[in-house]
Order: sequence, then structure tokens, then C-alpha cells
Amino acid sequence: MANEIDYSRITGAEQLYERMSYLNLGNGSQTEVEKVLRLTNQIKPFYNLMMKYDCALAEVRTKLEVFNKELSLRNNRNPFESIKSRIKTPVSIYDKLTKKGYEFTVKNIEEQLSDIAGIRAICSFEDDIYMLADCFKKQDDIVVLQEKDYIANPKESGYRSLHLIVQVPIFLTEEKYYMKVEVQFRTIAMDFWATLEHKMKYKKDIENASTITEDLKFSADLINQLDRRMQQIRQKIDASDYKETWLKNTTEEIEAQNATKVIISDEIEKHSKKKNVKD
Ligand code: GTP
Ligand code: MG
Repeated sequence: MANEIDYSRITGAEQLYERMSYLNLGNGSQTEVEKVLRLTNQIKPFYNLMMKYDCALAEVRTKLEVFNKELSLRNNRNPFESIKSRIKTPVSIYDKLTKKGYEFTVKNIEEQLSDIAGIRAICSFEDDIYMLADCFKKQDDIVVLQEKDYIANPKESGYRSLHLIVQVPIFLTEEKYYMKVEVQFRTIAMDFWATLEHKMKYKKDIENASTITEDLKFSADLINQLDRRMQQIRQKIDASDYKETWLKNTTEEIEAQNATKVIISDEIEKHSKKKNVKD
């Protein structure tokens, strides 16, 4: 941190917020944020809230794992490749609230942020995403607050995923709470892309940033084509019930794979020609 905060001069939350904005706590350390919580008597409520988000994550994770168990028995394959979850760190929470212009209070965390509890479900195929998201949304204890389909409408960067903000009930010994959880559904390919792009976004002073952005956009298109092809291949495999048709489809799969390779290499060639002209 560039500046040390003179905590002895801080008395109330409002004053504290003012000083912190001035001192630019952005990207501060965990201990600094904990000091802020202590000084505003929010340590206990803060960790109590985080515990509730953690319970909400466990609830959503279980729901998704139940789908995995049921469908793997029925279809002989797991619809989810992996399920990852995380609770936003106190520093990221602090930074996000400040960026949005809100004071760092437990009330604001709950009211103004929707991604404290985040879960990412990685699927092999795009059609599984919609099927699983629909089954999840239909559950009678789930309240869907927001849905963003970046698969049908990718972001300018090329980012694709299906996002849901939901509320899920958690049952503590005395009370029931509805907690917000952000659920992101992606294919393996979409996740591969997003992880790489995320790395670039947060890396400062990167050389050739604009060329990389362009390459990433181009790769997002390829990944999109690949996702579709893989899905078509799987549908053919699913459809083949008998040995004869299985043999026929195997030939078709090889043909489809070869056709995909041709499309991708053509696209790469076109892309590099375009780049050479520009360079
Ligand atoms: P955030 O303030 O970043 O949470 O964005 P938002 O509230 O406008 O929601 P949005 O649905 O756009 O994004 C939520 C989350 O999706 C982000 O925190 C990222 O995890 C992911 N995401 C969104 N856009 C991109 C992108 O362009 N690239 C990558 N790698 N991830 C993205
Ligand atoms: Mg977010």
C-alpha cells in the first residue's frame, strides 16, 4: 500500500470511508480491510454474513451434484466436467463497493453486490448448459433474480457463458435466509478461453495488447465453432443405438472431425493473411 492509514484518528464509519477514499485503499491488503471492519464494529456481522454465503454455495453445489449423479446413471456420462466455487475475498469486496460508490458496510455488501458467492459449472457441451440451467431454475426454492446469456449474445471481448443470479434459502438453527449466488455455466472450451483472457486483462503493461485482444476474439470464434462441432458429434454418438449404425456414425464422426480441422485451418490461414496485410 502506498499510504499508511492513521487509524487513531478514525472514529465513525462515515469519516472512515472519507479517509479511505482519500488514501485510496484500492488493492489494499486483507489485514487493512480487517482493521476497517474492527474499527466500525463489523467484524462479527461480516464473518456471519460470509458464513451464510458459504452455506448458500453448499446448497447450490449440492443441487448441481445431484444432477450429475442422476444423469450420469441415466446417460452414462457426467454433464458437469467440474464445479468450482469461491467466496469473494474481503479486499475484492471492499474494492468493488468503493468502485460502485458505496460505503464498506455489511448492509451494502448484501444489498449492492450479487457475486459474493460464486459457483462455476463447467460442462462438456453447450446444450447441456441450457438443459441444466433450466432444471436448476425450475426448482421451487430457487428465485431467479437475473439471467445473462452471453452464449447467445457474446460480449464484445468474445466472452461466452450463461450467468444466473439466484436466491437460495439456507436454514440456520433459528432462521431461514435467502442468499444471492452467482452461477456461471460454461463449456470447457469457454472456460479455457475466459481463463486466458482474464489473465491478460489483469496483467499490466502487456506488450502487443491490441494484437492479443484481436487474437483472443478470433480464438473465441474458433472455440464457438469447436463447441458446436463437438456437440454434433456427441448427438450422433447418442443417436447410434445399434452396432451397424454405430459403425456408420464412426465414419461420419471422422468426416465431421476432418471437416472441423479444415474449417479451423482455413480460418487460421485467412486470419494470418489478414494480419500480414495489416502488419
Ligand atoms: P462484474 O462487476 O465483473 O461482476 O460484472 P457485472 O456485474 O457487469 O456482471 P457480468 O455478468 O458482466 O460479469 C460477471 C462475471 O463474469 C465477472 O466477474 C467475470 O467472472 C465474468 N466475466 C464477465 N465478462 C468477462 C470477460 O469479458 N472476460 C472474462 N474472462 N470474464 C468475464
Ligand atoms: Mg463478478
